[in-house]
Amino acid sequence: MSDRYLDFANSGVGGWLTGALGLPRPAPLRRRAEAGTGLVGPLLLGPAPNEDGNGRLAATLGRLAGASGQKTHAEWSPDVRYGGLVFDASNCADAASAQSLYRFFHQAIRSVAEHGRIVVIGTPPELMADAEGEAIQRGLEGFVRSLAKEARRSIAVHLLYVAPGAEDAAGSTLAFLLSPRSAYVSGQPIRVVTPVATGEAGAGHKGRRVLVTGASRGIGKAIARLFVVEGAQVVALDVAGAAEGLSTLKAELGVETLALDITAPDAAETLLADARARGGYDVVIHNAGITRDRTLARMEPREWDSVMAVNLSAPLAITRALVEGGGMRPNGRIIAVSSLSGIGGNMGQSNYALSKAAWIGAVRRLAPQLAGQGITINAVAPGFIETQMTAAIPFAIREAGRRMNSMGQGGHPVDVAETIAWLADPASGGVNGQVVRVCGQSLLGA
Ligand SMILES: NC(=O)c1ccc[n+]([C@@H]2O[C@H](COP(=O)([O-])OP(=O)(O)OC[C@H]3O[C@@H](n4cnc5c(N)ncnc54)[C@H](O)[C@@H]3O)[C@@H](O)[C@H]2O)c1
Repeated sequence: MSDRYLDFANSGVGGWLTGALGLPRPAPLRRRAEAGTGLVGPLLLGPAPNEDGNGRLAATLGRLAGASGQKTHAEWSPDVRYGGLVFDASNCADAASAQSLYRFFHQAIRSVAEHGRIVVIGTPPELMADAEGEAIQRGLEGFVRSLAKEARRSIAVHLLYVAPGAEDAAGSTLAFLLSPRSAYVSGQPIRVVTPVATGEAGAGHKGRRVLVTGASRGIGKAIARLFVVEGAQVVALDVAGAAEGLSTLKAELGVETLALDITAPDAAETLLADARARGGYDVVIHNAGITRDRTLARMEPREWDSVMAVNLSAPLAITRALVEGGGMRPNGRIIAVSSLSGIGGNMGQSNYALSKAAWIGAVRRLAPQLAGQGITINAVAPGFIETQMTAAIPFAIREAGRRMNSMGQGGHPVDVAETIAWLADPASGGVNGQVVRVCGQSLLGA
């Protein structure tokens, strides 16, 4: 669905009028279709080499940013627009060393190009040696969230906590955060820890077997499409009633299709048999989901039950069957589509919010269990994404949903797909048990 206000505000007359009236002017984001998948550049790295608080990621960043013309803070020039600012604060352990953050960003923040990226690197707070170190590292969250609100609307700001010893595992995540692929992810912490299994960096999804549920339309379709573009063999699953969408997808993308209701009593068994016949899956994406919105006092039992079944019980049962029955391949990835509604709560969505918030608990519990088999499990929590699901929302609520984030617009299905593709990357084994919001830094939730 098109965003008429965004188009209007970026037209000649609309730009003038919104400026004159002091109305917000969201900038159209640049994604892979407009800007490719490479790193933004040039990068400006901080802090200056001789300053306190120099971090641990220099070598990883050097390897990654070699091609993007990186500069250090000492080489900063007011005449250059930088595609990205990266500040390695992983060694900041007290208020004095944290002042290097102020010095760097005070000078450099105005030099970030439109559609740029800012990444602050930290150490997981609980791994610091003392209370002041933990306080400062936790404090980075407040700093980054504020910077994300101050930056221009097309600029995404990220906080990346890297555990000591996991520096080499941070490459795929840095490459995601510093590229157009992360256009609608901003203002939240992401962690990289020692990977459960290591995959080849940069190998991507070529030849990997990927299952996408609820793939006939919306976000699921975008996920299927992106993995096909990345060279994966995709199996697109949806209910029999979505046969038309599935056959269009098959004709368009050459994916294999599977008509199955994931809530059918034998769905997990059927899927396991199918997975085994294919030699197992590298990536499973639990995207199928439904809403049955009504305030709790008016909600029918079937509205409660169906939402819990599709969004939570069925994907959990399928996960268990695939993992325990040998349906997942080594260095496998499982990703569930949660929702911002599960983080912030929503009027009329008590059933949906429970089912989606439940995934936060599920990935946290399952991550260490599956790590033993070299499998990671994570969730993405989309905010307002332009799909048929959100097109059905009444106009005023839809407009509020679209604008109440730092980017002033809704995301696109491809933004969710890009985030999933990064989590599913063979080299992303250091990201496990996390919930990553794809919401343009929504004002809802923490
Ligand atoms: N659109 C948003 O803004 C948004 C925000 C947060 C989370 N989400 C989540 O993203 C996912 C995709 O959302 P969407 O907007 O593309 O929705 P959508 O309604 O367009 O697509 C959902 C798909 O799931 C399929 N499905 C439903 N029940 C199924 C079942 N029992 N078995 C197999 N397939 C089934 C549907 O047929 C449909 O193709 C959902 O889990 C949704 O909760 C969406």
